[in-house]
Amino acid sequence: MYLGLDIGTSSVKGVLIDDRQKIIASATSLLKVSRLHEGWSEQAPTDWWKATGKVLALLKKAKPKAVAAVEGIGLSGQQHGATLLDSSGKVLRPAILWNDARSFAECVEIETREPRSREIAGNIAMAGFTAPKLLWIKKHEPKIFEKVAKVLLPKDYVRLCMTGDYASDMSDSAGTLWLDVAKRQWSDELLVASDMRREQMPKLYEGSEATGRLSPTVARAWGMQKLPFVAGGGGDNAASACGMGAVNPGAAFVSLGTSGVLFVSNDKFRPNTKGAVHAFCHAVPDTWHQMGVILSATASLEWLASLLKTPAPKLTQKLGDKINGPSSAIFLPYLSGERTPVADAQARGILLGLGHETDANVLTHAVLDGVAFAFRDCLEALKAAGTSIDRVTAVGGGSRSGLWLKIISTVLNIPVDVPADGDFGGAFGAARLGLIAATGASVASVCKAPKTAKTISPNARLHAAYEDTYHRYAKLYSATREINRS
Ligand code: XUL
Repeated sequence: MYLGLDIGTSSVKGVLIDDRQKIIASATSLLKVSRLHEGWSEQAPTDWWKATGKVLALLKKAKPKAVAAVEGIGLSGQQHGATLLDSSGKVLRPAILWNDARSFAECVEIETREPRSREIAGNIAMAGFTAPKLLWIKKHEPKIFEKVAKVLLPKDYVRLCMTGDYASDMSDSAGTLWLDVAKRQWSDELLVASDMRREQMPKLYEGSEATGRLSPTVARAWGMQKLPFVAGGGGDNAASACGMGAVNPGAAFVSLGTSGVLFVSNDKFRPNTKGAVHAFCHAVPDTWHQMGVILSATASLEWLASLLKTPAPKLTQKLGDKINGPSSAIFLPYLSGERTPVADAQARGILLGLGHETDANVLTHAVLDGVAFAFRDCLEALKAAGTSIDRVTAVGGGSRSGLWLKIISTVLNIPVDVPADGDFGGAFGAARLGLIAATGASVASVCKAPKTAKTISPNARLHAAYEDTYHRYAKLYSATREINRS
């Protein structure tokens, strides 16, 4: 038996799989985000650990024998969050999360101090990343900064509670802006650029390698008979990719979650910082990946749903399943700024083309189109980085809308595969990494792609109309940049 744990933003999820990767049980415990000021987003690391305990209690209740037989555990998690610990391993303040925008000024400072920052990190310094958060702490909470002995990413804090080890994997660490992503090691130049030191970093492992074993106390509390190996694991996107079998060069998926991700696996480190592409290590050895990240995907639909006081699935149902061409309104989904392609934490959303005829359906349609156009921007940025994507698999909550997938396929002009039923979140991928770390099985034999239930093809008749609207959409950000800032 193998366990995958995903330390997400809205919940901690656990998935238990057997030797043949069949899902035996899964459980979830919800988390809250605290937003003290506009643009801030924090969570208490102890809440992750408490939620992990609840997940294990639920799994143990449902399948005690399976839990007792766990031999390997993998971790996946929301990326970038800064968990600050003192020299005794005590948490110094709430963790600042991936979707916290406060440290945009510090991004400029890092790139000024280290002009090779983009080249080494493979990424633009963005407020979501970990390094600028630490410079912000130095400026605004100097007493806390002085006490920082270690900085851990969210899943790695949970690992510390599980094993006592300060360790991380390459894929998640690539999102700190302290990693030399090509060399897969900490970069002293990047650390110095945010006044950090190498000894404040955890030890690095590949995601499929064991970083240690579960401590006897935790194993007893969780009802496990052995001391399972704990794998390095991965950032949630890289771990999901392991779950979807997207480990070979060119394998790609779109994830329609709170944030939206266009992910592609690469044989080499392939940065394109001009288009704000994320170039990270993958969670398996000798492999990298690129991502276009849009900050508000289903979050845009949820925003509209709360405004119209109608649940999101109801809003999309009202549009039916047939694709009829673009909405008369155009929506720029930058509700909390945007990463790819603009890397601008202060940009904000736009609704263009409103008229007396604009009703709830037109707005819902505009949101679906707008998110699809944002994915198209990601595809163009990946193309500019030398990557061609000829098809994608769709995952995430938003992929339950058949209409949304038809729009995305037409706007990207590539087929979209819908996997047969299964669980393709980070937890399942993490469980696979736990299996590899415990058994020594090869990545290729474990990380296979799911069966495709159906394929959605671009609508050739509507392609020109969508192309036209996309080109209008693509002008919106630069045309309004100065007057449309938070
Ligand atoms: C990736 C990113 C998000 C979080 C969401 O760079 O910030 O996808 O990992 O959990």
